[in-house]
Amino acid sequence: MDLKSKIREINDFPKEGISFKDITTLLKDGEAFKCAVDKIIEDLKEKDVDIIVGPEARGFLMGTPVAYGLGVGFVPVRKPGKLPGETAKFEYDLEYGTDSLEIHKDAIKPGQRVAIVDDLLATGGTMGATAKLIEKLGGEVVAMEFLIELEFLNGREKLNDYHVNSLIKY
Ligand code: PRP
Repeated sequence: MDLKSKIREINDFPKEGISFKDITTLLKDGEAFKCAVDKIIEDLKEKDVDIIVGPEARGFLMGTPVAYGLGVGFVPVRKPGKLPGETAKFEYDLEYGTDSLEIHKDAIKPGQRVAIVDDLLATGGTMGATAKLIEKLGGEVVAMEFLIELEFLNGREKLNDYHVNSLIKY
């Protein structure tokens, strides 16, 4: 299936000059959604994954069906102040300023094999920070899976040490 044709591009959103990749048109197409999730599951088959991590918010949409398909658990990585339990935090640089992400400290056990699933790879900041959080807890990041990769932003270069897979490239 041509998954790219299921993505809607919206010009000048959220800012002028940005061509936003809208995944809602893929998500509402049952066949396309299933095909995308199945492809990610296929790439993870040989990786012996113990748990899936997904970053807020669209990482939840792609990550949970992958976890269900593999029969493993799902762990959310969230923006600051959202998780109720004790958290580990990782701060990372943006073009202007910093951002941070949190995970429950007891979400990953040392030695667990973790795959991270998100909808989009842009600069790689979110994925890099998510990997650091997992490693802080002693987990091993065995794969990074994306529905979409914006190749022109070279986010993959930041993730050199990892297995990175994306289904749709721009
Ligand atoms: C988007 C997207 C990725 C991230 C990619 O999330 O869903 O998680 O940005 O960008 P990066 O590679 O430059 O880090 P966003 O922060 O917009 O959050 P949302 O899913 O809650 O809208």
